[in-house]
Amino acid sequence: MQGARILATGSAVPELCVNNFKISEMVETSDDWIVTRTGIKERRVLTGIDKSVVDLACLASIKALDKVSMSPLDIDLIILATSSPNDLFGSASQVQAQIGANKAVAFDLTAACSGFVLAVVTAAQFIENGSYKNVLVIGADVLSKWTNWLDRSTCILFGDGAGAVIIQACSKDDNGILGFQLNTDGEKSDQLSIPYRNKAKNKTISICQGEFDFIQMNGREVYKFAVSKVPLSIFKCLQSLCISTEDVSWLLLHQANERIIHAVAERLSIHSSKLISNLHKYGNTSAASIPLALDEALSSNKIKYNDLIVISGFGAGLTWGTVVIQWKC
Ligand code: ACO
Repeated sequence: MQGARILATGSAVPELCVNNFKISEMVETSDDWIVTRTGIKERRVLTGIDKSVVDLACLASIKALDKVSMSPLDIDLIILATSSPNDLFGSASQVQAQIGANKAVAFDLTAACSGFVLAVVTAAQFIENGSYKNVLVIGADVLSKWTNWLDRSTCILFGDGAGAVIIQACSKDDNGILGFQLNTDGEKSDQLSIPYRNKAKNKTISICQGEFDFIQMNGREVYKFAVSKVPLSIFKCLQSLCISTEDVSWLLLHQANERIIHAVAERLSIHSSKLISNLHKYGNTSAASIPLALDEALSSNKIKYNDLIVISGFGAGLTWGTVVIQWKC
């Protein structure tokens, strides 16, 4: 067994910025309602008929590689956490080709807003068992493509973006991915989904075919789920590592709602000065939200060597989980 640590990060967002005032021209809402209920002021939206999640994922990945002057050919594995691929068979292979990581194995991982946490944990397993040395983990989503822009209960929440991290094998002493705790409750999968609906029937062989709907969400239930389950996951994870909440340097939660972030921190007695958040600028970018915020926090020199970062994702599935990281760069 060897250690694994995050070596570099990168992120990318589309140019078009849509603020709450613009949204209130499309649906009956207001900047005040959105800011008070969610903390979101604006979000980025991908435009361009030929643009997809792959473009954002590639840009974020190249930025991460450039930071440590690493050749894409040194990447052994690419895990693309996304729920909005531009090919249902997967988009990771397109990222592999476009960034020129020709020696890397590449696959998609779908777990909505928990996708990045699950991808980091998956990458760490491949590294710790000695299979791979350099893994590129990307969280990227363009949920604007699956949002009903006439539904005010969901269209105010989501934005597009991508974040990438390079995770590298290291000695056990330098290990930076200390532990994790993961959960799924499939009984509640209907609380937040992009359901596939059968529409037509092929008469000759009785096959039903259809298409995906827009995002469907029971906001109140998802809110209650997040504020009750996420603190428990964090407690369990910290307890398994014998780390007290007082020793936590930074709490980085999936950027879904400012009220959820503060409620979770309060339940853990973690002071709000330890929160990493950029939700007001980007909204909920699903699998991208955590690596996007991590990259920004590192760029502004918030995070120092040996800092303990508690990262938690939660969302559709329902899925939720925690990974505890010690910054080792
Ligand atoms: N503007 C104005 N009024 C609105 C809007 C809006 N955009 N949206 C809803 N309302 C109205 C409703 O119609 C309702 O009116 P009524 O009382 O007359 O029926 C009222 O506001 C209250 O609606 P609620 O849905 O109860 O509002 P709530 O306070 O719960 O806030 C919100 C809604 C922000 C969606 C909240 O429930 C939330 O954040 N939930 C969690 C969402 C989340 O975290 N999702 C994670 C997704 S992660 C993933 O996996 C993709």
